Amino acid sequence: MKATGPIPAGFRAIDGELAIGGVRASELVARVGDTPLFVYDLGRVRAQVARLRSALPAGVAVHYAIKANPFAPLVAAMAALVDGFDVASAGELAIVQGAGVAADRISFAGPGKRDDELAAAIAAGITLNLESEGEADRALRIAERTGATPRLAVRVNPAFELRGSGMRMGGRATPFGLDEDRVPALVRRLIATGAEWRGFHIFAGSQALDAAAIVATQAESLALAARLAETAGASPPLVNLGGGFGIPYFAGDAPLDVEAIGAGLADALARRAAALADAEFAIELGRWLVGEAGVYLTRIIDRKESQGRIFLIVDGGMHHQLAASGNLGAAVRRNYPVAIASRFDAFQEDVVNIVGCLCTPLDRLADDVMLPRAEIGDLVAVLLAGAYGLTASPSAFLGHRLPRELLVNGLAESIS
Ligand SMILES: Cc1ncc(COP(=O)(O)O)c(C=O)c1O
Repeated sequence: MKATGPIPAGFRAIDGELAIGGVRASELVARVGDTPLFVYDLGRVRAQVARLRSALPAGVAVHYAIKANPFAPLVAAMAALVDGFDVASAGELAIVQGAGVAADRISFAGPGKRDDELAAAIAAGITLNLESEGEADRALRIAERTGATPRLAVRVNPAFELRGSGMRMGGRATPFGLDEDRVPALVRRLIATGAEWRGFHIFAGSQALDAAAIVATQAESLALAARLAETAGASPPLVNLGGGFGIPYFAGDAPLDVEAIGAGLADALARRAAALADAEFAIELGRWLVGEAGVYLTRIIDRKESQGRIFLIVDGGMHHQLAASGNLGAAVRRNYPVAIASRFDAFQEDVVNIVGCLCTPLDRLADDVMLPRAEIGDLVAVLLAGAYGLTASPSAFLGHRLPRELLVNGLAESIS
């Protein structure tokens, strides 16, 4: 038997079924008509934002990176909760614009921005986080051609990394941002062209659960921003300190101590160099804000036995929720938190394997887990499915239909 990741606090049964946003799983399925289904609980997102704001020092802005979950009704609801949005493509920009978010609350980071994406960003008046000198040249040429004043920040590839992060984005050769030593010259050039320089973007990693490592990285980022500002001879209007806040996916993971991060950041800001005296600060998060708010519901369509092991085969799988399967073959596959949603509080008596409907041995949602006995027709829940779920999964693979998505506990429920 293998362990599953921890089910986030607050999930409970109503009439024996897992409830999401206070609504039973079967009722949620009935509302959209079918499985598979992603349900996002806006109440949980609100609670995360509120907790973060009370932990962070006053004035530090919270930005949502919509790559974590770009479901339009969720993005629209986030507009009232966060200060800014990070987009990674013209497609994501259109979603945020569609939510009615003002241009001065949007920034665009990501390597390989096409000319038409740069043009759309400049025309919209959003901030471009420049990833290279070449990208800066193209942005400046487009702005000159159209007569616009571009809003440009410089993304820095820091010499340090976020310790313990699941995905490191600094401290090495990378396609993201400019190496530290090249940044001051570009800043001077941007300012000389008459562009509106918006400051620095420093993103050192993702999915870290060690608060001390995040505190150390934020302090290093502040020191780096100050050094770069001094060398460039220009104070940044904004220092975007990135994020990297992780959530506990696997057995043994513990939730992030966000209050310790807030205290550490307050301390680092109080000690910041004079070059940053007038700067504003932001942190940019995706997963931590929305990950725990999402549940993927899928129905058991077969129960079979092979060589003494039980397989529950569901109508969803890795084409919707790739990360739970182990991202196309992890060296050591670990189980996300899973449950039998339709028998959430029943006695656990069965060791089973939950697999998806794709014709590949990689399509596994849970290995050798102890759960209540489940039959054909029961609902399986994969928790922690609110970030990097549907849009980070190979949904076209094998031609199965797309899952529905549902936002609950909002002002109005949204289905697509
Ligand atoms: C530039 C940038 N911002 C924000 C994020 C969101 O990170 P997370 O979802 O871990 O908070 C990422 C993730 O890769 C990123 O590359």
